[in-house]
Amino acid sequence: MILVTGGSGTVGRKILRRLPQDTPVRVLSRSGTGVPERPGNPFEVVRGDYDRPASIHAAMAGVETVFVVTCDPCRPWQDEILVEAAAAAGVRSLVKLSALAVEDQGAHDLVTRWQRDNEELIRTSGMEWTFLRPRAFMTNTLGWARTIREDGVVRALGGTTRNACIDPRDVARAAVQVLTSPGQHGRTYALTGPEAISPAQQADAIGRALGRPVRFEELPPHEALAGLCRRYPLPVAQALLESAERQHAGAKTRVSTDLAALTGRQPTDYLTWAHDNAHAFGATGLRTLTTAA
Ligand SMILES: NC(=O)c1ccc[n+]([C@@H]2O[C@H](COP(=O)([O-])OP(=O)(O)OC[C@H]3O[C@@H](n4cnc5c(N)ncnc54)[C@H](OP(=O)(O)O)[C@@H]3O)[C@@H](O)[C@H]2O)c1
Repeated sequence: MILVTGGSGTVGRKILRRLPQDTPVRVLSRSGTGVPERPGNPFEVVRGDYDRPASIHAAMAGVETVFVVTCDPCRPWQDEILVEAAAAAGVRSLVKLSALAVEDQGAHDLVTRWQRDNEELIRTSGMEWTFLRPRAFMTNTLGWARTIREDGVVRALGGTTRNACIDPRDVARAAVQVLTSPGQHGRTYALTGPEAISPAQQADAIGRALGRPVRFEELPPHEALAGLCRRYPLPVAQALLESAERQHAGAKTRVSTDLAALTGRQPTDYLTWAHDNAHAFGATGLRTLTTAA
């Protein structure tokens, strides 16, 4: 039995759609909303919340492998609750969705320190482990959809700074490969897209996918921080700004071959992702079939 946490989230949903039909899968979710269905061999969806330890202990019963997604750097005890519950239930292995920033020597922001601590927690847990370390998700740029639809513009920080961002569908492919094949204990995978590109280049790619120009406007740091504070607690917003500064210094341009070595597929490029998601940015006409995958 595989327990998928974060199964209603960006990566988890895509993992659930790709796991073999006959694999027994339990999905942890606070509400169950957003968890995909699997006709024929339904997922066992259990209600659980990292802030309710008993619910996490109950979810672990009979589980061999956990796909670990935690999301709140301001609540690090959630990670401890998950690992403790897994160990107590006799779980064999943990496959953790981490972040590539943990490998950046110069990264000391709150989110990166939290992910490093979580890796250490798992590494010393006595269970087998594998770490998936993706660079930024291409889906983060869905946050630009409203201004693209309304004004044909992307307003963002660091227009010319580059990031080897990855399609979360590729992260899910890597996760499925790890979850379903032996010999993964102690492995870490650096997961990137095929090229490092800038927000201005991403805006241009979205414009090409839409068939109309999308212009880029540089956002001053104080406006970027104000925007981040509308979506995240202040410490997380500040961590994201620090991360943007590292991107400005060129820390996120490395392209890794781990995804291709693991899955046998080349990573998806941003223009392909933009075409597949053009409807979200206001494209009219038929929705691309691969979009939801
Ligand atoms: N975005 C990026 O660019 C990026 C890059 C590298 C690494 N990462 C890492 O990826 C992870 C996030 O993955 P994601 O983007 O796939 O997730 P996501 O879309 O942000 O979704 C969050 C998931 O976590 C679950 N969740 C949240 N709070 C919970 C709680 N208290 N108890 C139980 N479940 C809870 C939610 O499930 P329910 O709502 O169903 O309960 C949901 O499925 C983070 O660790 C992040 O650091 C992100």
